Amino acid sequence: VPDSIAMTRSVVLARAPDRFLAEDLRIETGPAPVARGAADVVVRLLDLAVDPTIRSTMQTERVGYPLVGFGIGQVVESRNGDWREGDLALGHFPWSEHMVFDASAGREADGGPTKLIPQAGVPLNAYLSALGMPGQTAWVGMNAICQVEAGETVFVTGAAGSVGTIAGQIAKRKGSRVIGSVSTAAKADFVTSRLGFDGALDQSAPEPLVDALARLCPDGIDVLFENVGGAFTNALLDHVNMAGRIILCGAISNYDPRLPEPGPPLLSLLERCIRVLPFHYSRHPEIAAEWIETGTRWLAAGELAFEDTIVEGIERGPEAFATMLTSGSKAMGKIILRVADLDRDERASRRDGSSGSTLPSC
Ligand SMILES: NC(=O)c1ccc[n+]([C@@H]2O[C@H](COP(=O)([O-])OP(=O)(O)OC[C@H]3O[C@@H](n4cnc5c(N)ncnc54)[C@H](OP(=O)(O)O)[C@@H]3O)[C@@H](O)[C@H]2O)c1
Repeated sequence: VPDSIAMTRSVVLARAPDRFLAEDLRIETGPAPVARGAADVVVRLLDLAVDPTIRSTMQTERVGYPLVGFGIGQVVESRNGDWREGDLALGHFPWSEHMVFDASAGREADGGPTKLIPQAGVPLNAYLSALGMPGQTAWVGMNAICQVEAGETVFVTGAAGSVGTIAGQIAKRKGSRVIGSVSTAAKADFVTSRLGFDGALDQSAPEPLVDALARLCPDGIDVLFENVGGAFTNALLDHVNMAGRIILCGAISNYDPRLPEPGPPLLSLLERCIRVLPFHYSRHPEIAAEWIETGTRWLAAGELAFEDTIVEGIERGPEAFATMLTSGSKAMGKIILRVADLDRDERASRRDGSSGSTLPSC
């Protein structure tokens, strides 16, 4: 192992929280992992996706271990002929500066890292957001779980988040009228001006919700693409049309167990014969995989917009995670924890100028 990586820092779960605070994570420095096995590959981490799903892993048995989530790394040492120094790897990685994986035959099929060959002009972080798991989730939900039709009104909650931004754009391409809910005026401007949504419901605006809904969705809501849950979503249900559908993707407002949010009023669902369609992207691998090709094509044609929020430095992992779980932050799209940067020239040649903004302080 090169001397320069003798030590490595990780974002470790300090305690299993009821209500998550940045202090529930700590930065730990330890010896860098070394290649021991015959097929070991050592990777330095570049970008990590700050995904809501990681919240569900913060259990007592994980205390003392690094968080694990989707990330992209670069090979710095390889004992396996299929991986060379400089190769990029996409996979489930610990939130550490370095990690080692066993690249023996069959490991990839078992969910091990895969080689990433980025398309020219596409920034690496896109493979964790617009083209990655969140984009694939949007595609599965909007395209397969619910056949959204032209002319329908689609309402996306958490619209400025990674899934919401892509879900809304897919629905627009299907000819729907798309409205998204967001927590700030800046996010409202982002989803309408940048992403082409037909309207945004800014939850921070003084306008009463019923008035905003009547203005933005005069024909009611046909499809609710649901990312947030809780009281806000329940208030939307009265505006969902008879035989409407709810694509149940997530409920981020409920991820802290000490903050129970009211469940959906069942009578509202019953009276309107609303169908609730829950799904998890991982149960539809073929459809999710379609998105990588489709989304890449749309991006190349300039027909898909996205923005990620880059948080620089592994030491900012706790802050980035707390920001992700907070409504009303400045973060647009997916929060990416940038652990290390590729060679500046290399990244510059891959950047399309629309990859993201930085979050100077959360
Ligand atoms: N079913 C699946 O297969 C699947 C796969 C991936 C993700 N998901 C779910 O999809 C949802 C969106 O994921 P994502 O990757 O788009 O996340 P994201 O990029 O982090 O965006 C989440 C958005 O949620 C809002 N938010 C954050 N904390 C909140 C809180 N406490 N209460 C209310 N709103 C809050 C924020 O918007 P505002 O500031 O505008 O409120 C933020 O933009 C999550 O619920 C996630 O668990 C489901």
